[in-house]
Amino acid sequence: MQKIKFYKSENIPLELHKVRVVQKLHLVPIERRLEALYEAGFNTFRLNTKDVFLDMLTDSGTNAMSDNQVSAMMNADDAYAGSQSFYRVKKAVEDVLGKKHYLPVHQGRAAENIISNAYVKKGSIIPMNYHFTTAMAHITQYGGKIAELLYDEAYVINSSHPFKGNMNLEKLEEVINVHGAKQIPFIRMEASTNLIGGQPFSIQNLKDVRAIADKYGIMLVLDASLLGENAYLIKQREEEYKNSSLGEIIKTMTGLADLIYFSARKLSSSRGGGIATDKVEIYRDLEALVPLFEGFLTYGGMSVREMEAMAVGLYETLDETVISQSPTYIKYLVDNLHKNGVPVIKPAGVLGAHVNAMEICEHIPQSEYPAGALAAALFLISGIRGMERGSVSNQRDEYGNETYADMELLRLAVPRRVFTLSQIKYVEDRMTWLYENRQLIGGLRFVYEPPVLRFFMGGLEPVNDWPQKLVEKFKEDFGESL
Ligand code: F0G
Repeated sequence: MQKIKFYKSENIPLELHKVRVVQKLHLVPIERRLEALYEAGFNTFRLNTKDVFLDMLTDSGTNAMSDNQVSAMMNADDAYAGSQSFYRVKKAVEDVLGKKHYLPVHQGRAAENIISNAYVKKGSIIPMNYHFTTAMAHITQYGGKIAELLYDEAYVINSSHPFKGNMNLEKLEEVINVHGAKQIPFIRMEASTNLIGGQPFSIQNLKDVRAIADKYGIMLVLDASLLGENAYLIKQREEEYKNSSLGEIIKTMTGLADLIYFSARKLSSSRGGGIATDKVEIYRDLEALVPLFEGFLTYGGMSVREMEAMAVGLYETLDETVISQSPTYIKYLVDNLHKNGVPVIKPAGVLGAHVNAMEICEHIPQSEYPAGALAAALFLISGIRGMERGSVSNQRDEYGNETYADMELLRLAVPRRVFTLSQIKYVEDRMTWLYENRQLIGGLRFVYEPPVLRFFMGGLEPVNDWPQKLVEKFKEDFGESL
């Protein structure tokens, strides 16, 4: 994967950037981390970053910005309407993503709201490779249902399948035949399928989905939030494209979709988001909703400074040294955790390392949220903040029953160009210790459960005094170490 080989030392990932602005981190004592966990309701979203050492919650809005992005922000044009910053983003969208019409929105889920508002009705079915939390919340909000159509191998944790994000084509035709094309306003493909471990789909699969969409006259929507990394993995793993540039691969992918949307918080290491299409009818369907929900059509709820950073960031997604950095570090972390016996999703995907809480915490029933418990335990013993991606992140069904997640994962995000290799080594070390002491981790229960997207602000508590026991064992093994 990496092009630079070492002479005698271990072949570690080598940074192709230098650090020019830094932020001081705090590794607070374990007693404070225990207090902070109780204050945060055992929910890593609710921690204050003054208590967090390595923030691996997400890559959303946390990728390091380049010098060129920061300087572009100074050049922003403050205008309510017709800002030059807008035209620079629009041009970047056309140059990089190959779509003429661009609608600005403040972040990815705002695009999901607008698209769902325009196309999803009560009884609509949206086939997709896999859901993302906010995509599903918006679709269900407007009365639709989702149909998740991955192949079985996508759920195999320790796999070598290169494209676990592929859509199951037989199942797609079956869903269309059962419900009828009229019930299906669009098919959604998510690049680097987030919740199954940042796993890509192949261009061949996207072409096959496109052919089915054409056969039945259904629109194809691409969630391009993690498009750059999906394109990078296509270059690595899909024979036909190994000599193509990232730009060519990206345009091939976007060219197959009628409508694309993205979170610029991920795609372009900035903030903001967008919807883009070549089809003027689609543009017209959505146009009026942007001023209603977001802001005027030339800023869509974003600050002009964010838009400038986004324009530059979009071009930078074509630079392989930028796009390869996070997946290369993730692969290093995943391979080392695997070597140490820690169950992780394989092959390494994008966004982060995904640790299999279902196996590590097999003694904790899903009703006591094993992935939430593992996220809390890792923070407690290391100051590393990961994100629960399991049943806490699921929503209850229409009757209020729990719907248990297919996978219980702890996601350790590796935002672009943020962490050093010694920090990644620390993650490997503490995660391995926790794995070897996994029997000490116990379950959680909700004490405060919001009705929508409960994982963000929900509050939980441990079912017994397991956190205190974990602290005791940490002190036994690490003494005075932080
Ligand atoms: N689609 C995908 C595939 C995403 O990963 C996200 C966000 C969104 C849409 C929504 O975008 O946050 O800008 O509103 N993912 C973040 C994460 C939150 O941590 O994985 P947004």
